[in-house]
Amino acid sequence: MYTLAGKNIVVGVSGSIAAFKVAGWVSALAKAEANVTVIMTEAAQRFVTPLTFAALSGNRVYGAMFAADAGEEMTHIRLAREADVMLIAPASAQTLARLAHGLADDLLAVTTLATRAPVLICPAMNSAMYSHAATRANLETLRVHGYHLLQAASGVLACGEEGQGRLAEWPDVQPFLLRLVTPQDLAKKKILVTAGPTREAIDPARFLSNRSSGKMGYALARAAMARGAEVVLVSGPSALPDPAGVRVRRVISALDMYEAVLAEAADADVVIKAAAVADYRPATVFDEKVKKDQIDTSLSLIANPDILLELGRRKRPGQILIGFAAETRNLEAAGRKKLAAKNLDLIAVNNVKAAGGGFEAETNQLLLIGRDQVAPEALPLVSKDAAAHMLLDRVSWLFRQAARLQ
Ligand code: PMT
Repeated sequence: MYTLAGKNIVVGVSGSIAAFKVAGWVSALAKAEANVTVIMTEAAQRFVTPLTFAALSGNRVYGAMFAADAGEEMTHIRLAREADVMLIAPASAQTLARLAHGLADDLLAVTTLATRAPVLICPAMNSAMYSHAATRANLETLRVHGYHLLQAASGVLACGEEGQGRLAEWPDVQPFLLRLVTPQDLAKKKILVTAGPTREAIDPARFLSNRSSGKMGYALARAAMARGAEVVLVSGPSALPDPAGVRVRRVISALDMYEAVLAEAADADVVIKAAAVADYRPATVFDEKVKKDQIDTSLSLIANPDILLELGRRKRPGQILIGFAAETRNLEAAGRKKLAAKNLDLIAVNNVKAAGGGFEAETNQLLLIGRDQVAPEALPLVSKDAAAHMLLDRVSWLFRQAARLQ
């Protein structure tokens, strides 16, 4: 339900050197088990052969509007009706202009005109062409007509110039494509997610931290974005890239996280605290690196503020507050204790000693305990992306319950 598997995706490729990059996208979509059909403009076929896209998609590639072997079939109507989503990439200046004016002069244009599916357009061209008033006006017209547009990226272009005009990268495109085929049950909700560890400095070279990679929190941020939420991710140090379509605030220490979270939480509809926040920090932070022979073997610590506890105190009526609990035993009892102490609506307990779950793993197994919930819900061991969606299903249910009570 929350993946591209089984979705009918029509990819429209137009004439730009960036067409070769879209071959990789089609391959990624096929690997994700989407059903991909490629339409190429005549100009696109000068850059990449239809055979490349046929081999990568496993499907016939369409080019001409009146193919000799099409018989009486109205290809554009069939493709337009079958599509769950259309992706036009690269969209050349010429293609943007034709679509903006509703021209129906080739198979790609006429299929785009005929479809009721959402259309995502990724432009690519020389930066002067991209910033030209005519192109800007065409992009604006397309936006007004309800097309979804991704901005071209900046960098060195195939023509040697530097500027904006590069085709967006697949990791920045895939989340927007996914969002267009995902039920928008969290639209208009601001969801604040925290992720990763915090680092508590000892001196400029050393810190105290933990094993959190950020994977669980980033999966939650991606899932909430796909379901239409406005997502803010407050992340401790993590090697993961910023998720597309998510506003990311990177922080280092628990005190930094405290500040960022409290600033963002005031108007958030949901706060999900998946970060592993250090409970303590060194009482003294040295300005200079401490020499080996000067190190005292004991380190004195002071308590960090408990961010979630503070959020629980400040919780607005209707706001949903969700904590995580990293435990190694007595999961349910430990989870219930934190749920009550921090005034939470839901807690996701994970056994950080179990194989395939907790810190750093690609998968997780969560025990969900809601406020007033007699029997906890034990979720299966699944990918962190799937676990994130299961947790958000519960959030969606909480909103439906609240609406019913109004
Ligand atoms: O990042 P990954 O490698 O994917 O690993 C995921 C995870 C194991 C870190 C994640 O699933 C998880 O369990 N996160 C919470 C870890 C944790 O700090 O649990 P805790 O039981 O110590 O804290 C309970 C809750 O209070 C948490 O929501 C925590 O964010 C919050 N807390 C804790 C201390 C503190 N000073 N402020 C807080 O807000």
